[in-house]
Amino acid sequence: PVKAVIFDLDGVIVDTAHYHFLAWKRLAKELGVDLTEQQNERLKGVSRMRSLEIILSLGGITLSDHEKEKMANRKNSWFVDYVERMAPEEIFPGVKQLIHELKGKGIKIGLASASKNAKTVIQLLHIQNEFDAVVDGTMITHSKPHPEIFLLAAHKLGVEPKDCVVFEDAEAGVEAALAAGMKCVGVGSSEQLHKANKVISKTGEFKISALEEFQV
Ligand code: G6P
Ligand code: MG
Repeated sequence: PVKAVIFDLDGVIVDTAHYHFLAWKRLAKELGVDLTEQQNERLKGVSRMRSLEIILSLGGITLSDHEKEKMANRKNSWFVDYVERMAPEEIFPGVKQLIHELKGKGIKIGLASASKNAKTVIQLLHIQNEFDAVVDGTMITHSKPHPEIFLLAAHKLGVEPKDCVVFEDAEAGVEAALAAGMKCVGVGSSEQLHKANKVISKTGEFKISALEEFQV
């Protein structure tokens, strides 16, 4: 039976994935790289530093660790500027209701985001109390597609990985969920997220009756 649902944050609960993209695009431009949305798919779900390294490799650019640190901080300050102007209304439609319905069925709710800003974002959205466990980028050593973040979330929720369903918008996130031995609902394009057990275009579209498809 499904005992827990674990949500990714950026692009699943709120459109902060777009803010990450805007901030990376701005930084990439300064580095002489024109970051496309397609290339940006590779940055989704991975850590800040790994994202920067992908952009640098796209441009064939080498930077010292010190310069990389500075660039990553610049990107983050722009991202934080966007996020601080965010309102609770920006949470995707239907997400809160979905969480409440799941809770009504006795299902635990987790958050697993590679972002070090995840706690700030859920506080700004006033949803920090909705989660039975939160794992963010400050608590892990391996980025998605490594399963660490989801395994830690399941551990904190006190459920076995096989009883967890993950909602993810990133290819790396889908891979991480499957590698953790969990089921995964992809949120976005079925082409990009074809490895997921099921793909929907928006989180709020999910009908909890569909959880039966995941019963083992
Ligand atoms: C999530 C997002 C990525 C972001 C990463 C790190 O995984 O999908 O786009 O780069 O978190 O976020 P941070 O806020 O720590 O830079
Ligand atoms: Mg995401």
